[in-house]
Amino acid sequence: MRRLPGTWDLFKLCRSTLMVSVVSATLVLVNDQHVGAEVQLEKQVSSLGELVTMFDSSSCKECHEQIYTQWEKSHHARPLMGLNDQIFIAGYLKKGPLAVRPGEKAAKCNFPCFKCHFPQIKYATDAVAAEIAEAVLKDDKATVRKLNIGCLVCHNEKAVVHGRPEKHVIYGNKDIKDHPGLPVKKSPLLKNSLMCGQCHGLGPNLEFEHPVQCATLYGSYLHAYIPSGGTETCQECHMRNGDHYMPPNFNNRAELSERLREALPMQVRTLAYSFQPKEGDVRPMVVVNTKITSKAGHRIPDG
Ligand code: HEC
Ligand code: HEC
Ligand code: HEC
Ligand code: HEC
Ligand code: HEC
Repeated sequence: MRRLPGTWDLFKLCRSTLMVSVVSATLVLVNDQHVGAEVQLEKQVSSLGELVTMFDSSSCKECHEQIYTQWEKSHHARPLMGLNDQIFIAGYLKKGPLAVRPGEKAAKCNFPCFKCHFPQIKYATDAVAAEIAEAVLKDDKATVRKLNIGCLVCHNEKAVVHGRPEKHVIYGNKDIKDHPGLPVKKSPLLKNSLMCGQCHGLGPNLEFEHPVQCATLYGSYLHAYIPSGGTETCQECHMRNGDHYMPPNFNNRAELSERLREALPMQVRTLAYSFQPKEGDVRPMVVVNTKITSKAGHRIPDG
């Protein structure tokens, strides 16, 4: 069995360009006749424009309008923009172990965050990382907004865990050979919590030169919710009827508060009484009992 370099091998090696090129050369030699398609998958583009086009999902809107509109409003459509539309990654490029100045010196190793926030970077060279760093440091929001977790990130790149996803295929819940544009192929992973767990995290990501810990919610789902008898998947709670809006949406305060009230019902019982330790000394007292129940399939908040 031939082994392609794992996604993050490329990141680990990013200080040594020489080693990366040795690995790719071997791949081409060994795989020349058999697995052309897979080798091409690891082909890397060298401009941000090409990468954005490779994962462009705007053509899906025409027929999947409702899903597209839901997705557009979701956090998956803006994975590098934080609260109040700030490019949160800018702080990390300016100060700390991932900092780089000027942006053109950046490489993929400056972006361990992209493992989950922009995984398609693995199909691009360091030149693309440098382009992104320049846009981030210039606060060029128009460019950074184009970097998203679009339809093809979930329906191709993150839709299989055994082996590599096939190129030019959309993975779905069933096979549709004559699907317009690209054929749809069934992948059981789409209904599995692991699909989301790939990015929603277990714990620290120790494979990086500068380990990162961000989302850990999938760990809590596996180790607390399931062992205590939980039976629902992420999709059953967050994607009812195929909804791609996937709340909570932190930018919609009113909706968020309402959802949290619903998710964390609180029971409060009180008893008021007076305590008289001695003649003429009456002290008002109160007993408050609170019980908060979580309906979530994991700890909240996460991260
Ligand atoms: C010209 C119209 C059209 C376009 C464009 C289109 N689709 Fe579809 N798609 C359909 C139709 C029709 C179905 C079949 C619905 C059914 O049978 O349930 C479908 C089914 C699917 C399914 C399978 C649904 C399931 O049950 O699992 C997925 C996934 C999907 N499309 C994704 C996409 C993505 C991603 C894009 C853009 C790259 C896209 N589609 C572009 C029309 C389109
Ligand atoms: C293991 C995958 C993973 C890695 C690596 C990762 N993140 Fe995250 N991050 C997520 C997920 C998933 C969420 C959203 C869900 C949540 O908060 O539980 C998130 C949420 C965030 C948020 C809050 C979202 C918002 O809109 O404000 C910030 C900020 C953030 N990450 C920054 C970073 C930075 C900076 C790095 C790199 C130093 C990083 N993350 C690395 C998966 C990751
Ligand atoms: C964050 C990952 C993610 C993104 C992004 C995403 N999808 Fe999905 N999609 C899924 C999963 C998971 C399912 C299966 C849900 C289930 O069956 O419970 C799904 C289901 C679907 C279905 C079948 C819906 C149904 O009712 O059975 C269609 C069609 C679809 N997606 C199209 C799209 C299109 C078009 C986009 C881009 C606008 C998109 N998806 C973006 C994860 C994603
Ligand atoms: C490619 C990685 C990736 C996959 C796969 C993925 N997510 Fe996310 N998800 C993210 C990131 C990154 C964010 C945070 C974006 C931001 O706000 O900066 C996020 C945000 C969210 C949010 C909004 C709340 C929050 O804390 O930001 C929910 C809910 C969510 N994801 C659920 C899901 C579910 C359910 C699935 C599986 C069907 C899934 N995600 C699959 C990366 C992913
Ligand atoms: C039993 C239902 C249930 C299951 C299962 C579940 N969630 Fe949640 N999740 C919730 C509820 C309820 C909230 C609270 C906020 C809300 O409802 O909007 C929440 C909140 C979140 C948040 C926001 C976390 C934060 O910091 O506030 C993310 C991200 C998320 N879920 C992702 C996932 C992923 C990924 C999985 C699977 C590994 C999953 N959820 C499984 C019900 C569930």
